[in-house]
Amino acid sequence: MEFDRKIKIAPSILSADFANFGAEIRAVEDQGADWVHVDVMDGHFVPNLTFGPPAVKAFRPHVKTVMDVHLMIAPVDASIEAYAEAGADMITAHVEAGPHPHRTLQAIRATGKRAGIALNPGTPVEAVEYLLDLCDMVLVMTVNPGFGGQKFIHSQIDKIARLRGMIGDRPIHIQVDGGVDPVTAPLVARAGADVLVAGSAVFRGGSVERADVYGANMRAIREAIAG
Ligand code: DX5
Ligand code: ZN
Repeated sequence: MEFDRKIKIAPSILSADFANFGAEIRAVEDQGADWVHVDVMDGHFVPNLTFGPPAVKAFRPHVKTVMDVHLMIAPVDASIEAYAEAGADMITAHVEAGPHPHRTLQAIRATGKRAGIALNPGTPVEAVEYLLDLCDMVLVMTVNPGFGGQKFIHSQIDKIARLRGMIGDRPIHIQVDGGVDPVTAPLVARAGADVLVAGSAVFRGGSVERADVYGANMRAIREAIAG
């Protein structure tokens, strides 16, 4: 896939119907999702438990765009290959997941998948400075990871802007995750983010039967950014 900084919306299936993932993925893609964001949680690094590699593998045939797998697990290195084999296109690990994030990124790159590194809200942007040359994406968390539907943390806008400066003209995406909606999306886009994860703001009010609501929710985000 070609690199670009156009705004991309990545619905988080954490807000989808857990009994109907295949149809939910197809519905958001039909309605214009650019990527599909899969939140893997281990009940240890974060206080919530979601999917393992067999579930991610089952999602794979339904995803026509980019399967973007956000690993909120620690330790992470031993699981990277399993998520690569499950069919992830992008694998993002947290810089806080262990003492060797550089090695973690090398391990992701070794699988041939694109590599992302995520920063919790309390982690300074400098934590990724010497990792950037191994990254295809940096994920700035705008909530504490673990749950959908939390309130956007405004202090992270400054972090996005500083990261944008640090990246310069390197082909590295800036992804934002947590509390993204039509009010906050323009703020993060202006600061330099190009991949916007949104769970509740995309799935709210809709269903597989009313997928048009997903489309309207994504349009509302895009229109808010366009101004
Ligand atoms: C939070 C997850 C997010 C979450 C976002 O730990 O990483 O992807 O689903 O949900 P919203 O958009 O509802 O804040
Ligand atoms: Zn996420």
